[in-house]
Amino acid sequence: MKILAGNKKGNVSLIIIKNKKLPKTLTKDQKAFLELQNYKGEGNIFIPYGNVYFVSIEESSYAFCNTLRDAFFNAINALKKLNIKTLSINIENTKEAREICEGILLGNYSFETFKEKKSETTLEEIYLNSTKVSQKDLEKVILEANVIISSVNYTRELINTPPMQATPDFIAKDAQRLAKELNLECKILDTKGLEKEKMGAFLAVAKASSNPPFLVHLSYKPKNSKNAPKFVFVGKGLTYDSGGLSLKPGDYMTTMKADKSGACAVLGIMQSVAKLGLEAEVHGILGLAENMIGGNAYKPDDILISRSGKSIEVRNTDAEGRLVLADCLSYASDLEPHYLLDLATLTGACVVALGEYTTGVMGYNSKLKNSFIESANQAGELSAILPFNPYLQKLYKSEVADLCNIPSSRYGSAISAGMFLGEFIPQNLQDKWLHLDIAGPAYVEKSWGSNPFGASGAGVRACIEFIKNNIKEK
Ligand code: BES
Ligand code: ZN
Ligand code: ZN
Repeated sequence: MKILAGNKKGNVSLIIIKNKKLPKTLTKDQKAFLELQNYKGEGNIFIPYGNVYFVSIEESSYAFCNTLRDAFFNAINALKKLNIKTLSINIENTKEAREICEGILLGNYSFETFKEKKSETTLEEIYLNSTKVSQKDLEKVILEANVIISSVNYTRELINTPPMQATPDFIAKDAQRLAKELNLECKILDTKGLEKEKMGAFLAVAKASSNPPFLVHLSYKPKNSKNAPKFVFVGKGLTYDSGGLSLKPGDYMTTMKADKSGACAVLGIMQSVAKLGLEAEVHGILGLAENMIGGNAYKPDDILISRSGKSIEVRNTDAEGRLVLADCLSYASDLEPHYLLDLATLTGACVVALGEYTTGVMGYNSKLKNSFIESANQAGELSAILPFNPYLQKLYKSEVADLCNIPSSRYGSAISAGMFLGEFIPQNLQDKWLHLDIAGPAYVEKSWGSNPFGASGAGVRACIEFIKNNIKEK
């Protein structure tokens, strides 16, 4: 299925109905049909007379605006079932074109790799027509949407891939493949490399698994790298989180293949950055491991020495993401970035606080947090700030080590987990760092907004927008 710019009429013409206002040019047959269907301008409907498809949208008062994306996500899934080859849509402006393209492309993904019967469609071409936007501008919008949303869909596919296949080794190999294809630098640390880096926290988490851990470091340098700002993205890549010896109850273990969502999003971000040729130096760091049980497992009561030198008392092996990230963030800090962001399915508490659809944004720099929220809104991702405070910071004090891996109270534990990560960011980078807890939106077991069942690719669109918005300033 392709989206094309150009004034062509499709087998079906799509019309956007704003605020229930039906077009005045309806034929008698069309009017009669709509009356019969009792259609009052709400929802999407196919009108066989003249082959018209109505997509209705309502004005939204939310900061993020997903009405068009969500409406087209639904529309494309309905239209793909019709026996048509082409579709045409009239476009008013580039913002509208962008959102429509994104909705269509986000709707054109579902995870069916393991199904014998794949969904089929006859729909081949979608024409964006406009008297107000030039063909050249439309083409630019289509190209960019294609790049970014194909990265979102790539991220979704990786996350959805079952843990028996998507092991740390599998993800690392895919990163290598991506690097080769897009001319990225790719450095991979295996167990020996992690030992050399003294990543005692990361290594402990991975110990019990027969699938060894890897740290992947991808880097992209723009053609003109002299004045380009430097971004580093760090992703939690737990290809499975059983909880370890503090084993998760069965109901909570299912979906933990998605605990690699942060790392997979970082791969998606790197792919888009390279394909779009953005004028920024961008690094992607993936902490890949499996949190399992076994005779060699790390234990509650262990005291780990992290790369930064800080010791960590383990009281719960299910709080493993922060251990992997502690060492990855310390490694990332050595790159002295202008922007340091981590993406992680870090806490169930974040889902309790914000609901399943919203990313928790944390850090010490208010301006940076707000600017991220702004970018996420533009990109159509939901996010909200969870504010740090020194009282919650006190909760992970340990009697026997520098820090404890769990807080002494479960209240506010999305924030205390974020503040734990902050302990591994050097002073000079504190105001350059953002922690994104994507535990809610990364994987949802029902379709929502512009997302199908399963992985959403949360973080990819927001982070690309964030890079683009910060390329001018440093
Ligand atoms: N991967 C989980 C967090 C998670 C929960 C992600 C639900 C997605 C959906 C994380 O490693 C974890 O288990 N966190 C614990 C921390 C606790 C032991 C302090 C949690 O949130 O319960
Ligand atoms: Zn866990
Ligand atoms: Zn986890």
